[in-house]
Amino acid sequence: MFGKRSQGEAPSAAPTPAPAPAAPTAARVQAAVGKAAAPAAPRPAAPSAVNTNVRTPPAPDPSEQTEYRSEAYYRVKSTIFNALIETIDLTQLAQLDPESARDEIRDIVAEIISIKNVVMSISEQEALLDDICNDVLGYGPLEPLLARDDIADVMVNGANSVFIEVAGKISKTGIRFRDNGQLMNICQRIVSQVGRRVDEASPICDARLPDGSRVNVIVPPLAIDGPTLTIRKFRKDKLKLSNLVEYGSISPAGAKILQIIGACRANILISGGTGSGKTTLLNTLTAFIDPTERVITCEDAAELQLQQPHVVRLETRPPNLEGSGQVTMRDLVKNCLRMRPERIIVGEVRGSEAFDLLQAMNTGHDGSMGTLHANTPREALSRLESMITMGGFSLPPKTIREIIVAAVDVVIQAARLRDGSRRITQITEVMGLEGETVITQDILVYEIQGEDQNGRILGKHRATGVGRPRFWERARYFGLEKELAQALDEAENA
Ligand SMILES: Nc1ncnc2c1ncn2[C@@H]1O[C@H](COP(=O)(O)OP(=O)(O)OP(=O)(O)O)[C@@H](O)[C@H]1O
Ligand SMILES: [Mg+2]
Repeated sequence: MFGKRSQGEAPSAAPTPAPAPAAPTAARVQAAVGKAAAPAAPRPAAPSAVNTNVRTPPAPDPSEQTEYRSEAYYRVKSTIFNALIETIDLTQLAQLDPESARDEIRDIVAEIISIKNVVMSISEQEALLDDICNDVLGYGPLEPLLARDDIADVMVNGANSVFIEVAGKISKTGIRFRDNGQLMNICQRIVSQVGRRVDEASPICDARLPDGSRVNVIVPPLAIDGPTLTIRKFRKDKLKLSNLVEYGSISPAGAKILQIIGACRANILISGGTGSGKTTLLNTLTAFIDPTERVITCEDAAELQLQQPHVVRLETRPPNLEGSGQVTMRDLVKNCLRMRPERIIVGEVRGSEAFDLLQAMNTGHDGSMGTLHANTPREALSRLESMITMGGFSLPPKTIREIIVAAVDVVIQAARLRDGSRRITQITEVMGLEGETVITQDILVYEIQGEDQNGRILGKHRATGVGRPRFWERARYFGLEKELAQALDEAENA
């Protein structure tokens, strides 16, 4: 049916040690395996059988192969894999649908196992088959990790060291690659989907998996210990504000305040460290945008999932191999302004586009939002200022601050605490300028009170007692002032 293996031969070549001359497939496999099968050598219990010692301690659930496998397992897998690669025609295999391709691989692997006299139980064979199919058809050892929805990040630091983040905790897995060559092939396969390649000449690349997961690849000589892959898994079921309340990331009253801030078209900056939940929070806030509004999103890799009917999604583009064709975030934000947006949402502000976003916020695109890396709301505002200064705008500091305070209404701080949990730690509003100093005022803060016996941080979200935040008038304009007053009261008495 396909490839080298089946050309001009009966499809049902006997998989068991049939009389050799009558089984061309087996003969070919044998040739590839490099071991002439003794004509009628009975398979079972031959003392010379390759001792695989494949048994892995606990019975593995193939979907959760994060446990350690024995050296022997990898040796056997590598022998069988090499034999398989020599037997099949990969290009033809790629044209089959995954199910048929898997069936083909299953047939051949079963033959190789029998010819090589590998002693294996059925479940071990199945696990091996899964592994091999993943290598040939997908992302190899990464597949079981990519299939798990509970994993937030996968971090591969060379062939023998794979870490994952689950529920805020980073841990090492037993997953490993055959060698850095195999890992490099997988990196290549990932980046080829966005028309790129990684090699010594261009050792850094951002890419995306077909499911939307965000990938960064950096390879030697820059990554000293082998190809290094970082994957931020894409969650199909994005967290909602109600989930954040459920996880204790924000209190119910705090969530209500956030909802009002989102609905009354305040201009919002979400600040936080890497992986602190900025994009997730931004996404939850977009749920409160009115369905009639025209929203334009600008991102480096499309992660946001807006539910509104009138959304235009834009994505930046890195330069191609010749170094041309780049479209920056600034290009996108500037272009956005000519697209008649009502709100502009910038996935991550990190350069001169800060200026254009602020201009947009100041010119009638109320309710625009963006995220940036900073550890406190104050730091977020000063980072914004330095982005503008470094972007080459020669404006006096005071003017830049005036633009910032006129544009930004609220800064929401996200944090990943030391126990791995993610919290909204501050909701802060920008009050104005006093002299040259930007004045801010916290509306809600997360107070850490201690930790329980499992090391989990205990704390409370508490309103600071501000009766009438600056966005009160806005809330009133949208008929939300009663709800705001109620939410502030609740948050204060929490
Ligand atoms: N409040 C939360 N509770 C539990 N998990 C969360 C929470 N917020 C975000 N996450 C998870 O944490 C991971 C990182 O979240 P997210 O992508 O929003 O972070 P980020 O700050 O935007 O990261 P980066 O700096 O890399 O862009 C995701 O897998 C997300 O599902
Ligand atoms: Mg993000």
